[in-house]
Amino acid sequence: MPQKVGFLGFIAYSVSLNELVVFNGYLTVESGVITRMGLREEFESLKYSGSLSGFNIKYMGTNQILIPGFVDCHTHAPQFPNIGLGLDKPLMEWLDKYTFPLERRYSDLQFAADVYTKVVKGLLKNGTTTVCYFGSLHLKGTLELVNSVIKCHQRALVGKVSMNMPNSAGYYNDTAKELKDTEDFVRRVREKQRDLVQPVVTPRFAVSCDTELMTGLAKIATRYACRIQSHISEHRDEVEYVLKTNPNCTSYSDVYDKCNILNNQSIMAHAIHLTDDEIKLFAAKGVSVAHCPASNTRLRSGMCPVRKLLDNNIKVGLGTDISGGDNATLLDAMRRTMDVSTHLEFHGGRPAINWKEAFYLATLGGAKVLGLDDKIGNFKIGKEFDALVVDIYADDSQLDNYDYPPEASDEERILNLLHRFLYVGDDRNIVEVYVKGKQLMMVVYDEN
Ligand code: GUN
Ligand code: FE
Repeated sequence: MPQKVGFLGFIAYSVSLNELVVFNGYLTVESGVITRMGLREEFESLKYSGSLSGFNIKYMGTNQILIPGFVDCHTHAPQFPNIGLGLDKPLMEWLDKYTFPLERRYSDLQFAADVYTKVVKGLLKNGTTTVCYFGSLHLKGTLELVNSVIKCHQRALVGKVSMNMPNSAGYYNDTAKELKDTEDFVRRVREKQRDLVQPVVTPRFAVSCDTELMTGLAKIATRYACRIQSHISEHRDEVEYVLKTNPNCTSYSDVYDKCNILNNQSIMAHAIHLTDDEIKLFAAKGVSVAHCPASNTRLRSGMCPVRKLLDNNIKVGLGTDISGGDNATLLDAMRRTMDVSTHLEFHGGRPAINWKEAFYLATLGGAKVLGLDDKIGNFKIGKEFDALVVDIYADDSQLDNYDYPPEASDEERILNLLHRFLYVGDDRNIVEVYVKGKQLMMVVYDEN
C-alpha cells in the first residue's frame, strides 16, 4: 500500500446524531491520516495543478460509497463458538450452562489463538474496524486475543475478564489473583502496542465480582488511565439478585458507584432497566452505554430505551454482544436498534431511532463511547482513516439489480445507496476495508 492515497467518489459520514454529511468529492490519506477533503470540482483543479502527484487515486464507481468503519462497543470474543446456542434460556441460566463452560476452555492457548484469529478476521470482513472486546478470565488466553488483533491490524480495546464469585462451572479466581493478573495484563498490552490496541479493565458484572474486587479494579483503571467496561441492568432477575446481595445500596448503579467504577471512562453494556435516578447519575458522571439489541431480544432481557438515554445526554454506541447476540455485524445491530426502538414507539414510547441516527451510533457514536472520536468515527482532516468502500452492485448481493432514476441528484443518490446498504446490504457489499490507512486483505475462511 503506497503511503499516499486518494479516493474520488461518493462520501458519507455523520458529524452528530442529527447530521449526516454526503457529497461527491475526494479525500486524501497520507501515512494513515486524512490530509485533504473537498468537492469533486476542487479535485479536478488540484489534479491539474499537479498537487496530487505521487498519490495513488482510487476512482470509485457510481454505485460505491466511502463510509467510516464500524465500531462495535461490546462483544465477547471467546463466546463466538457458541453463537446461536442456548438462546432459549434466560441470562443467568445461559451464563452457567453455556457461557462459563466455553470460556473456561481458553486456558488452552492454541484453542484461543485459533478462535480469536477467525473472530477478528470475520469482523473485519464485515466492516468492523474497531471493537471493544471482553476476553476470558485468562491472562495468557486474552493476550492471544491481543496478538490476533495486532496481527490482523484491527483497532481494539481488549479486556481480561475479572470474576471472583463462585459459580457452578468453577470459573473464577480469588481476588488477589484477579487484581494481579489485571495489572499484568494492562502492562503487557501496553508493552506490546500503544497505537491501535489498548487494554480495558473488565469486571464482568456485580453478580460475578464482589465490591472489594471492583474497588481494586477501579484503582487499577485510574492508575493506568484505562477505560473500564462491565454489564449493568440487563435482566430483571439479575437486578433483583444484585439488590438482594447488596442491601446497603439503593440501585444497581449505586453498587458500581460505591466501587468507583462509574465515570467518564466507563462503558456499560445493556443498561435496559435503569431507573430515572440511575439515568441522571450516568449523565452526571459521563458514563457511556453499549446498546446490544440482538442479545437483549434473544435472551429476552428487555427493550433498552435508547432514545431516552440519548435525550438525557448519555453517550451511546452499539454492541453485538456475541453470543447473547446472534449476529456479529454492525449492520444487524443498526437494524435491531431501529426495530426495538420502533416497537417501543408503537407502545407509546419516544420517537424511534431512524436509519441516519443508527448509522451515527454505529460509527461516531461508538467512537465517542470508546474515547476514540479524536481519531476515528468519521472523516475529518487530521483523523485516522478507518473506512469501508461499499458497493451496492457487488456480485450476488441482494441489491445488484436496482436501476437508479437517471435524474437523481448526487445527494439523493448517495442517500439511497447508504439507505439501501444499511437496510439490506451485507458483507458482499463491503468491498474494501481500511484501518489507519492500511487496506486489509480479505479473508479466505476455509483454506481446505
Ligand atoms: N452478563 C455477564 N456476563 C455476560 C455475558 O457474557 N453476556 C451477556 N449478555 N450478559 C452478561
Ligand atoms: Fe456482554
